[in-house]
Amino acid sequence: MSDIRDDAERGFHALYGAPPDGIWSAPGRVNLIGEHTDYNGGFVLPFAIDRRTAAALALRDDRLIRVASAFADELVEIDLGELSPEHLSGWSAYPLGVAWALGQLGADLAAVPGVELFIDSDVPVGAGLSSSAAIECAVAVALNEVWHLGLDKSALARAGQLAENTAVGAPTGIMDQTASMLGEPGAAIFLDCRSLHSQLVALGLDEAGLEILVIDTGTTHNLAESGYRERRESCERAAHTLGIASLRDLTVAGLAHAREVLDDTTFRRARHVVTENQRVRDVVRVLATEGPGSIGDILDASHRSMRDDFEISTPELNLAVETAVSNGALGARMTGGGFGGAAIALVPQAGESLLRVAIDGAFAEHGYQQPDIFGVVASVGARRDT
Ligand code: GLA
Repeated sequence: MSDIRDDAERGFHALYGAPPDGIWSAPGRVNLIGEHTDYNGGFVLPFAIDRRTAAALALRDDRLIRVASAFADELVEIDLGELSPEHLSGWSAYPLGVAWALGQLGADLAAVPGVELFIDSDVPVGAGLSSSAAIECAVAVALNEVWHLGLDKSALARAGQLAENTAVGAPTGIMDQTASMLGEPGAAIFLDCRSLHSQLVALGLDEAGLEILVIDTGTTHNLAESGYRERRESCERAAHTLGIASLRDLTVAGLAHAREVLDDTTFRRARHVVTENQRVRDVVRVLATEGPGSIGDILDASHRSMRDDFEISTPELNLAVETAVSNGALGARMTGGGFGGAAIALVPQAGESLLRVAIDGAFAEHGYQQPDIFGVVASVGARRDT
């Protein structure tokens, strides 16, 4: 059992004075490509990473939910009968929001017992690696099992998204929770966010002597929430003006007409989404035909599109990407919602230490905080551990 699961078990025992009934865990994710396409009904290609959130849980014989974690110094308690978004706030809105969302998706919350939970995580917070989806999915699989709900993984992903949209109030798409639920070692998840059809795609990194490095810039700009919402609104406005259900329905060929009817900013937002959808499909094809060594240029193009058209990158992320690419990375791009957080770089395993030195040096030269650089491996999705 890995450390974080041990830590959750120990934390639970110390707080509640007895061992948990079990430990469930769920991973964070890296998005290989397909950014801000999920809420446009488009395509994404994320993979679950080897950083997880663990939830230790025991059933109670009353109707209380009690939740605590290693990252906040408080124990939050609520009666199951009172669960509703307006009663939830702070970090506990993630786990408690999931309990509420399961009720919205058909679980009879009047018929289930209370639980106590302790949560611990080694997914960095605010880095664009879906620490929130990892909490939601760990709690969702745990409650699904102990409450005998029988919901499948895609319904549990939806519960996580609903918690995030309604209890937390972030208008995010379905990508993060799907990656955290469906991850498999060595594979990314090619998800059609309109049909929700998903397919595992072998990454083949090890065989090609390659790896994915995360460069966490440690910056989370306060624009993150308003910027995300604003981008989403631009996309919806573009689709509305073009008379289509979502930007998924606009093709690269249709961009010429879109340029005539949209203002310049809205057009560039739409162009990012349309070309990004195409890049996701291109990466899936190239992975299957030529292998991961040939996807670098597409990752670079994705970053430029986010930097110039969608305008969600930052100077720190651009520096990480540029330094990586000029020091041996085959390709690099920011990953996640943007406005801060992390970039990923596709690098030869042998070149990792040189690249670290180059990035550390470039950040020091610019007076930026030293980034946290670490490799990630595609890993298994949410599950019970013990
Ligand atoms: C965040 C959201 C996702 C997705 C990405 C951008 O991670 O949670 O739903 O929109 O940003 O691709």
